[in-house]
Amino acid sequence: MKGTALLLVFAVLLSFCQAQSETEAEETVAEEEHVELFTTTQTKMGAATSDFGYNLFRALASQEVGNNVFLAPLSVSAVLTQLSMGASKHAQSQLFRALRYHTLQDPQLHDTLKELLAAVRVPGKGLFAARLYLSRRLQLKQDFLALVENQYGVRPKAVLGKDLKEVNDWVSQQTGRKVQGFLASNFPRNSGANAVSAAYFQGKWVTRFGQSGLMDTFQVDNGAPVSIPMMKQDNYPVKMGVDSDLQCTIAQVQMQNDVSMFLFLPDDVTSNMTQLEESLSAEFVQDLSMTLLPAQVSLALPVLRLSYSKDLLPLLGNLGLSDWLLNTELEKISRQPVRLSSVRHKVVMEMAPEGNQYPGFSSAPSHLSYRVDRPFLYLIRDETSGALLFIGRVVNPTGLTI
Ligand SMILES: *[C@@H]1O[C@H](CO)[C@@H](O)[C@H](O)[C@H]1NC(C)=O
Repeated sequence: MKGTALLLVFAVLLSFCQAQSETEAEETVAEEEHVELFTTTQTKMGAATSDFGYNLFRALASQEVGNNVFLAPLSVSAVLTQLSMGASKHAQSQLFRALRYHTLQDPQLHDTLKELLAAVRVPGKGLFAARLYLSRRLQLKQDFLALVENQYGVRPKAVLGKDLKEVNDWVSQQTGRKVQGFLASNFPRNSGANAVSAAYFQGKWVTRFGQSGLMDTFQVDNGAPVSIPMMKQDNYPVKMGVDSDLQCTIAQVQMQNDVSMFLFLPDDVTSNMTQLEESLSAEFVQDLSMTLLPAQVSLALPVLRLSYSKDLLPLLGNLGLSDWLLNTELEKISRQPVRLSSVRHKVVMEMAPEGNQYPGFSSAPSHLSYRVDRPFLYLIRDETSGALLFIGRVVNPTGLTI
């Protein structure tokens, strides 16, 4: 009880500080008219791919009411961008709008994306795979295959009918053997274009957790509490804040390789995080990262090991691509009409308690506690570019496994 009361005091304090900094921020905005949050081509690209990712996540989350959902959106951006290289001007602008590139005005868009992908392709940030598999019934234009290969270093591949092993081997090899069994069956015989994207992420903390794997309770929405392995540490340095509108407490935990995890923990036990999901954007997270305050907490996190796969094709309509899906105008790929027949995606993620630093010593336990013991939302962000690397909603961790 005492801990809760203190957290409330802390919350009031935090919201007071936030309110103050908001007032200050408003004044600054008024003075300078306009504050650019994203100033370099790289951070603008990071914001565009993130906004695409949040839109895709919202579409998936609203379709999968009450379920766990995970995405590595950057790999989806990558494969759909490859596809856009085969589109007519009109179709390309439809795709660019969905991918949020229309705001960039970047004549070197493909080079900027290529650099971003190279910058985050590091074990500890993520291992991404993105490739197009095209029906062998199509007469493929060699120029297109070469164009994509020269730009992104991966050549779209003709589907030969029995592709399961070849696709799964390629995805496995691209992800350091971590994403296995990508396809459960061959692509359908009459398929057109299949967009393949996958990613592996291993969370490496800056500050290690002293305790890991001990079973603890996790409250699920409308059900009996479940028992899951947790990692715990006292006096853990985080950045923290309370969002009274969204009714959640937010913590940012620093990871190695200039990556951080943002946790959004609703005050109540609920699997309905619609309001929170609706507010997510590159700008919101960037603003947030500047208002969170350093704190030492007693931190408890579920030990996540998860594998998740989904065909994202049915979600593209929610991203304004309904018309495009009916008439893809992928005229640079083939003279014949090319239908997009799947957008398969798979993510694997592991969180271990290891870190390269020990938490600060203190004889007294932290007064504040941050226990992620009920449904929550999290995201992993590359701090250098601001790009959203992973995002997930955990409603019930018991079903999660690799
Ligand atoms: C989720 O909560 C929102 C309000 O935040 C409400 O409008 C919506 O109906 C809820 N959805 C479900 C499935 O309960």
